[in-house]
Parts: sequence; structure tokens; C-alpha cells
Amino acid sequence: MCGIMGIINKKGNAIKKVIEGLEKLEYRGYDSCGIAFLTANKIETIKTKGRVKDLKELIDTDTKSNIAIGHTRWATHGVASTINAHPHTVGDITIVHNGIIENYKELSENIDTKLLSETDTEILCAYINKLYNENHDMLKTLAKLKTDIKGSYALAIINEDEPDTLYGVRKNIPLILAKNDNEYFLVSDMTAALKYTNKFYLLENDEIVKISDKEYIYDSDLNLLKKELLTFEGTSNDVMLKGYPHFMLKEIHEEPMVINNILSYYLTDGKFNENMPEFKKYKNIYFVGCGSASYTADIAKKVFENYANIKCEVFLASEFRYQKHFYDKDTLVVFISQSGETADTLEALRITKSDGIDTLAIVNVVGSSIAREAGKVLYIKAGTEIAVATTKAFTAQYLLLTLIALKMAGINDLSKFYKINEALETVFAIDFQKYAEKIYTKKDAFFIGRGIDYGLCEEGSLKLKEISYINSSAFASGELKHGTISLIEKDTPVMGIITDENLALKTISNIKEVHARGAYSLFITSLDIDGDFYDDKIKVPHINNYIDPILIVASLQLLAYNVALLKGEDIDKPRNLAKSVTVE
Ligand code: G6P
Repeated sequence: MCGIMGIINKKGNAIKKVIEGLEKLEYRGYDSCGIAFLTANKIETIKTKGRVKDLKELIDTDTKSNIAIGHTRWATHGVASTINAHPHTVGDITIVHNGIIENYKELSENIDTKLLSETDTEILCAYINKLYNENHDMLKTLAKLKTDIKGSYALAIINEDEPDTLYGVRKNIPLILAKNDNEYFLVSDMTAALKYTNKFYLLENDEIVKISDKEYIYDSDLNLLKKELLTFEGTSNDVMLKGYPHFMLKEIHEEPMVINNILSYYLTDGKFNENMPEFKKYKNIYFVGCGSASYTADIAKKVFENYANIKCEVFLASEFRYQKHFYDKDTLVVFISQSGETADTLEALRITKSDGIDTLAIVNVVGSSIAREAGKVLYIKAGTEIAVATTKAFTAQYLLLTLIALKMAGINDLSKFYKINEALETVFAIDFQKYAEKIYTKKDAFFIGRGIDYGLCEEGSLKLKEISYINSSAFASGELKHGTISLIEKDTPVMGIITDENLALKTISNIKEVHARGAYSLFITSLDIDGDFYDDKIKVPHINNYIDPILIVASLQLLAYNVALLKGEDIDKPRNLAKSVTVE
């Protein structure tokens, strides 16, 4: 959830580069931030409850330093405040931490430092300092630390005693060592280093990295490892706004490119190629994910059921990990995750694997934990997604899942998929602001639909509440009369979604019911349906049952975006949220 950026070079510009990196990592958590750097062999720390732009104002970024570590925080232990912000220093040791230390109480009994903050991180720092004071050897300290602490962590560490060295360790939280010819970056993800390099080492759990004259990566027994230097598929362009006011808008407009990436990778001349595996042997599919990833599954499930005749169930990863499972060897469990690091999804994957059930990951971030640990991985090829509210990755997940469903159904004429991008351009040309104006001042909003359209409602509603803070709910429209309809007041926005012609008449009746009770009814459809049951209509092109959802989702994303824009909200960094939820 938090962002870590450490740097070591001989250029004296470490502070400037850490700040630049933190700006890129801010999407991971942004309730406070800080930096520590060595200048004249002394560690100096500057922190703020504000954003990175506020931190910048507190620092002379031209101060010469060759080594610095920075952090953007998403509070877990202790409120968001300057004192709780990272880095934390105890004695010679200064650290930034992403994750949660579960046995912090136990550790605190072993230290005699007076703590300033309410964080588990400061306790951890004090514990590292204690170990170091006992042995005066950082590598031994970190090896011992790993056996003593429980929880998840990525740490970047500097020690005033070793002013030319940066250390890092991780467990279940990502940490990457990127490098170019002159410098090293210890980062939560490559977005922070991409301006300077695309070369990196993936650090595994329990490895310890020491960077001084060069990089040394050790296993937990302090054996020196030889690791492969990897190349990240992406450039610094991916993490720039390129003229768009927000990453969310840019990423929605990248959907045609992402669709091309998927189609050209998994298909050749409109037919499946060797990159799309065979899944014939499975009789059941479980989908597991969090947030939007679970809604992608709710929508795709209908395609698997209706076209491939496969029994499917969708689970929230946070529930899946603690419930009884009825899967068997005929079940494929599919883990869906943009980041590939979501703690609940990762743990659910581990449980499934330990039960001996086949697993497939549908992931965006190449080399992420879920991608590495799943039995099989298929990448959605969406490129870096920065806005906290997912858009292009959602579309890509749904498209890839739909292709898998069609593969299982034995459908090999996929030519219709090549029509999506032209249709998306039609969606992008719609004036969503006009509809957003009728919504943005309201307290509540509802999305109603049936079947596959209910899944679309869930995602549309989540998008709206995530970024506009309007209290929005999705309902299977048949359920309206069982309670929800009592919430409808004059002008309450109700978005009625129809892509499934078999269910159209039923949903129309439900939209009529809210319309008759004074709701502002916004009908969103791919079908040619008119009538007097709505106030406004958003019509997207019609391609077919399983492709139309992609067009509807784009319109729901743009509707939410325009509502949040009119409200003047911080669209790319909605309050309290984080893009990559690496704690339970
Ligand atoms: C967070 C993000 C959501 C995302 C969910 C799952 O809540 O804000 O956009 O759907 O995590 O993330 P994942 O990386 O596993 O897809």
C-alpha cells in the first residue's frame, strides 16, 4: 500500500530523485510522506502529513546527498500524522516500511527506547537498532531480524554508521532493486525508477540486499546469490499524463490500445493462437479477487456459463481465505488481480495451492507475487495503471476472461472483437458531463440491472463511490421492491443498465417503477430500446452479448469520472484508498 523509494549514487542528487520517485509512487498511499538522507555523514529526516508536493516545499532539493530513502504512507498502525509518517529513526538506524509487523508488541518488550510515534515501524526500527548494537554487523542483524519478526514487510534501511550503504529486505510485500550504470533504486514498483532505468532485480521473500560499491543480494543464510537482471516492459512515458488532466482519463482512453495488445497476443488472424492455453479438462471454475477484480468475474461468469456451459462461482478473496471449500480436481481456481500483490488474493492462492487444486492467475504486473506463485499465469497486458480506481485493467481482465470462456466453448470465430475499438471511439465522443450534472450534487445513487448487467452495475457503482464519494449501491433490479425502492426520492439518480435483450423487458419495468417515484432515471444500453420510462439515455454501440459490456463499462467509467470532476475531487487519489492493498 505504501510507496518506498531509496536511492544510492555518487551524483549528490539523491534527494531530488527520491522526491521525483515518491511523486510517481504516491498512488500507492498518500496520507503522509517523508524522506531521510545522509548529508555530511549525518542522517536528516523531513516528514509531513501532507502530500509529496508539501514535502517538496520543506526541502532544499539541491542539498547534496548520495543516499536517501523516502516513503508515501497509507496508515495502518497509528493515524496519519507527521510524527507517524516514515522514515523512523532509532539510534543509527533509519527505515521506511511497507506492510504490517504482527508481533510488534512482543518486539516492543525487547527494546528500551522511548518511542515517539504510534507505529509498528518505529518499534521495528528500535529492534533493528538493538540487534545492530549487539553485533555491529548489518547483514547479521537483518538475517536475525527475519527470524524474529512476523508479518509482511518491505524495508529500505540506512545506517549512520555505514553512510555509503543502503539495505533492503522484503516478505510478501514487493520491493525491487533497479539499477543503471551509475545508481541503484530500491523501489516498491518500477514506476518510481523508470525515468532512469528499466533494468531490475526481482527480490524474493527473505532475500537481503546490500548496495554499496555494487549490489550484493543474499539469501536468509547470508549466501551470496547470483540473480538475473531483468528488463521491465515499459517506459517513463507510461507514467506520464501525456496531456490528460488525470491518469484515470488517460487510462480509459488507453483501452483501445490494451484491447489491441490482448488481441494481438492471444489471437492470430482472428483465431486463438498458442498463447491461449487449453482449459478443456475443467468442469467448474472458481474466480477469486477483490474490489473491481471480483466484479470483472461477476460479469465474465455469465459468459462462461452461457457459452461454455461451465459452472462458476465468484468469491471475494477476503472471504475465500476463511471459508470451507468444496472444490475438487475438476475445478480451476482463477485469481484476478491488477497488481498481483493484493494480500487477500495472494493468501487465497496459497491456500488453494496447498489443497492441490489447479490455479490460474489473470494479472497485469509482470513478475508480481500472484503471477509468480500461480500454477499458470495469463497477463492482461494493460501497461502501468496509476489511477487508484482501475479502468483499463478492468476492461482487459474482462476481455481476457471472455476469450478464455470462448476458448472453452470451442468458439473460434473471434472477428467481432476487432470491432470494439471503433465502437469505443463512439463511446468516448459521448458528452458525459451533461448526465454528470444531474448526479453530482446528489447524496445517493443506484445502479440497477439483471444478469450480466447486474455485474456491470456493481462496477459502475463502485467507480462512482470510489472517486465522487456519492453513496452509491448496485442492485439486481428484481430486488428493488424488496426494500431498496424505499430509498428512492425525487431526483435520486438511478442508472438502469440493459445489454441482455432476454432480460430487457423485466429491467424496463423496474426502471419504470423508480421513474414513477420521481427518480432521475438514466438508461444506459447497447440495445435499440426507446420509451417513456427514462429521463436520459446513454446509447453505446451494439456488437454482441459478451462484447457490449466493454462498451458499457467505458461509459460507466466516464460517467463516474465526470461526476467526480464536477465535484472537484482528487480523482486519481481518492481519500482513504490505495491502489495496491498489500495488507489484510
Ligand atoms: C484496490 C483498488 C481497486 C482494485 C482492488 C483489487 O481496492 O483500488 O481498484 O480493484 O484493490 O486490486 P488488484 O490489484 O488485486 O486487482
